This record gives sequence, C-alpha cells and structure tokens, in this order.
Amino acid sequence: MLNIILCGAPGSGKGTQSDFIVEKYGLSHLSTGDVLRAEIKAGTPLGKEIDAIISKGQLVSDDKMIALIEHFLDSLSKDCKGVIFDGFPRTVAQAEALTAMLAKRNMSATLIDLMVEEQSLIERMINRGKTSGRADDNLETIKQRLQVFHRQTAPVADFYLEQRNYFAINGNKSMQQVFAQIDNILQILKH
Ligand code: AP5
Ligand code: MG
Repeated sequence: MLNIILCGAPGSGKGTQSDFIVEKYGLSHLSTGDVLRAEIKAGTPLGKEIDAIISKGQLVSDDKMIALIEHFLDSLSKDCKGVIFDGFPRTVAQAEALTAMLAKRNMSATLIDLMVEEQSLIERMINRGKTSGRADDNLETIKQRLQVFHRQTAPVADFYLEQRNYFAINGNKSMQQVFAQIDNILQILKH
C-alpha cells in the first residue's frame, strides 16, 4: 500500500494535490477537515461543538481525531491501494497514535511537506473565502490557523524527518509544477 501524509500550512494545497494524486494513483483520500465540515453541516450536537472550534482556528481534540482515524482505518476495503491523509496528523500526539494504528495493521506512511510562503497562503485563503463559505477563511481566523500550525503542527514534520520518512516540496509553484514534484516522490515510493 502507498500511504502518504500530505502536510502543510492552511492553504498550502493539500486538498488540491490530493485530487491530482487520486486521479493518477487511485488512492483513498481522507481529509479530516472535510469530515469535520460534514459533521457541522449535519447539525449534530457534535457538529455544533466542532463548528465553534474551527471558526476560532483552533484544533479539535486529539482524542476525537484519533477515534475518527481508527474508525476510517477499520472501514478500508481489502483492495484499497493506499491512503492520502490530508490534515492528519496535526499534533505530535496524533502522529504517534497514527504510527501505532498503522503498525497494528502492518502499514506505514510517508510524510510529504508542502512548503509555501506565508503571504501566498494568506492570499490564497482570502481569495478562496470569497466563494468557499468556510467559516475559517477570514483574515482574523487565518492568522490564528497559521499560529496554531507553527506551534502544534510544524513539529509533526520533525517527527517524520527523524524517522527518515519525510520529503519536502516547494509548494510556491503552479499546481501542476507542485504535482510533478509529488509524482516523482510517489514513483520512488511505489517501488
Ligand atoms: P482543513 O480543512 O484541513 O484546513 P487547513 O489545513 O487549514 O487547510 P485548507 O483546507 O484551508 O488548505 P489546503 O492545504 O487543503 O489547500 P487547498 O488545496 O484548499 O482543517 C480545517 C480545520 O479543521 C482546522 O483548522 C481544525 O480546526 C480542524 N481539523 C482538521 N483536521 C484536524 C486534526 N487532524 N486535528 C484537529 N483539528 C483538525 O488550496 C487553498 C487555495 O489555494 C484554493 O483556493 C486553491 O485553489 C489554491 N491553490 C492550491 N494550490 C495552489 C497553487 N499551487 N498555486 C496557486 N493557488 C493554489
Ligand atoms: Mg484542505
């Protein structure tokens, strides 16, 4: 199985690149942000709780996220070619839990880090906010999301780097140029 973690700041292109990867490699895509937004849309009590957290640019608790991933892994079909984890793990505690959950299933994952300059991230999200309807695509929340990323998620990259399970990508290029870099890595990982 070809399992990858697409890691990167808010607006770095995780969702965009996941679509390209799914199209070429047929992997299963899990965007934790999309799952949480679906829960909000469903209007459940849990959804209301999550809405308050996302709107402030904070992270949902590790316990809830790890339970969500465990459930997802249990639901994978036998012929699954691999998984793209988009937006998970976002803390070192989540990374440790993922490593253990995958090991239990004889699986592992490699992290691909999308590096994008901060000013471009802000411009992309402000621009997307004009049509996305996302409660977190406004300047105040974007700044908060970036702070949370630097404090809580950036150490996840070090965790995979230390395990020599890490590739960095220049995400400041066009979507196609970014995908070309990811494609090269996936060709290496496939063999
Ligand atoms: P999530 O949905 O994961 O949001 P995010 O990480 O903030 O990232 P985005 O989805 O905004 O950006 P992206 O990297 O996918 O970029 P995209 O391809 O869309 O999480 C939302 C919230 O949910 C979190 O803040 C947290 O509260 C909660 N959450 C989620 N996972 C969690 C977890 N594990 N633990 C705890 N809480 C969790 O691109 C952005 C824009 O740029 C688009 O308009 C796109 O068209 C454009 N674009 C993309 N690539 C390029 C390019 N190369 N050049 C120019 N424009 C580009
Ligand atoms: Mg996304």
